[in-house]
Amino acid sequence: MPALLSRLTALPKLGALKAIIKVLPVSQPLIFIGEGAALRLCNSIADQGYRRVLIVTDDVLKRLGVITPLATALHDRGVATALYDGVRPDPSFEVVEAGLRACRSANADAVLVVGGGSAIDTGKVIALAASTGKSPRQLVGVLKGRRPALPLFVVPSTSGTGSEASIAAVISDSVTHEKALVVDPAMIPLAAALDPRITAGMPAAVTAETGIDALTHALEGWMSEFANPHTDRLNGTAIRLILDNLERACTEPSNLAAREAMALASHYAGICLNTSAIGYVHAIAHQLGACYAVPHGRANAMVLPHVLRFNLSAREPRLARLARMLGLADLRANDAAAADALIQRVGALLAALPLQLSASMLRSNDYPAIARKALDEAHGMYPVPRYMDEADVYRILAAMQSA
Ligand SMILES: [Fe+2]
Repeated sequence: MPALLSRLTALPKLGALKAIIKVLPVSQPLIFIGEGAALRLCNSIADQGYRRVLIVTDDVLKRLGVITPLATALHDRGVATALYDGVRPDPSFEVVEAGLRACRSANADAVLVVGGGSAIDTGKVIALAASTGKSPRQLVGVLKGRRPALPLFVVPSTSGTGSEASIAAVISDSVTHEKALVVDPAMIPLAAALDPRITAGMPAAVTAETGIDALTHALEGWMSEFANPHTDRLNGTAIRLILDNLERACTEPSNLAAREAMALASHYAGICLNTSAIGYVHAIAHQLGACYAVPHGRANAMVLPHVLRFNLSAREPRLARLARMLGLADLRANDAAAADALIQRVGALLAALPLQLSASMLRSNDYPAIARKALDEAHGMYPVPRYMDEADVYRILAAMQSA
């Protein structure tokens, strides 16, 4: 479909989406931040009177010993815990249902998630299903819960998804491999701990991939048609924090200041996901994940520079403003030069990170399916600044292959 026709078709849907976003009552979690924040969060859970907490995590974090001090802190304050460590990457409905059974058999009065985006999404849906009596599949869609979730607390172990602040959770169908979206502000946690001690164990490649996911959220939010002064402030700060700290977080794994800055950046960009949403970088990257199992952050890194260039004709002044705000361009530089300085800086960051950016897995036979699915995903859902047609996606995929 030509880009202009796609835009005209998408406009009514985007108008409705914008109206829903405006009236949706979205709260934000109380944030504990800094070294020891996770333990302070556990103390707060006890102080709030919860007595039976389901801890949702994955086997790796359990084996790394991340869970034991938190469970001990809860026990010391009289809180019983049950552990569900069955979270897997791209969690399926079966993974969520198993966690829900653990939640019910523990008669949990609160859920504590310790983990990355997959664990947080799993915990959000467990908490909503537990309080509503609905199955995870019945919660797929927008506002299907219709009542508050079980009180939810989150300790992110990665800095990228910002899922602790977003109203959405992604669950996979293990048969069709389709991603199902649960959207409900009732899943927003009561509190989250951004603790650099927790993320300090992250390998450099995961730090880089998740950090670029956060950067992509912030940049797509900056270019979004739904951007506003509030999202600009948060996304702009997130971009600054990431440009200043991501490389150091990779090369100095125990640099707690860099880790904390990345956790905050991810959180700020996560807040904005609820308003400014995402764009074509994610739409194309999701297909690379589905088609070739490319990890989400790495796929974003491969696509991001190309979509930034594609968007230039619609967003050059805004990207130039961002470049000047970040000190990447002289205040007297014209928009073209300033926007280019920003794109160059993003490219330099990508090149400096331990990222596998080769797109050698791409097959030109797959271009039509990738393009169709990416455009289907984006149009009417993502407030993109400039519309693509299939040929635009082909050009981006070809440029990735020849990069
Ligand atoms: Fe993302």
